[in-house]
Amino acid sequence: MKKITIAIDGYSSCGKSTMAKDLAREIGYIYIDSGAMYRAVTLYCLDNGLFTDSGIREEELRNSLPDIRISFRLNPETQRPVTLLNGEEVEERIRTMEVSSHVSPVAALGFVREALVKQQQEMGRQKGIVMDGRDIGTVVFPDAELKIFVTASADIRARRRYDELKAKGRPASYDEILKNVEERDYIDQNREVGPLRKAEDAILLDNSHMTIAEQKQWLAEQFQKAT
Ligand code: C5P
Repeated sequence: MKKITIAIDGYSSCGKSTMAKDLAREIGYIYIDSGAMYRAVTLYCLDNGLFTDSGIREEELRNSLPDIRISFRLNPETQRPVTLLNGEEVEERIRTMEVSSHVSPVAALGFVREALVKQQQEMGRQKGIVMDGRDIGTVVFPDAELKIFVTASADIRARRRYDELKAKGRPASYDEILKNVEERDYIDQNREVGPLRKAEDAILLDNSHMTIAEQKQWLAEQFQKAT
């Protein structure tokens, strides 16, 4: 069967990656979490003192970009993708609240987006890819055959993220998570380059009241229809 490109965009913590990852595994496509790439650049900035009280040392970050190599590998035990920054596994470190609270300003920088979008397009050149993010259907793969835009209420998204962190033994405050989700939504929607918005031809999914199994089923049906 001819392989297609699947773009899944939406708000922070709305379960995009879970859906996207499961679908990719089932249909034998590559899965790329584009948010992990913005998170890895943010971790690099944190590790290298590129954040100051007044913002980001943009010139230094621009000069460092060629030295920031992001790649993925599959954990053979869990079959889950793991993010590598310059060859080092950073999957856990990019998911911390510290990275979550610094990532959106980094992702708003045009030169960062330009570099990452280029790499993402390269990864999808052969199709057979499911990529999730904020600008996949609008900027990265505007010609994707299947585009989904996922949303859910901020409160429900924060609750899910809270439960997820708690289950991983990394409890965080619910209020802090809700604030972070709302702040990221705001910055992501209002930036000049590649803002978060639904592509005109994307199918809208509000999963506020759906179980993971229902979302999986829904996505599988969309894939069937698109192929
Ligand atoms: O998907 P995730 O929540 O891990 O993404 C982290 C952040 O990376 C988002 O809040 C957003 O600021 C940024 N991002 C982006 N464009 C993408 C994917 C993520 O700006 N395609």
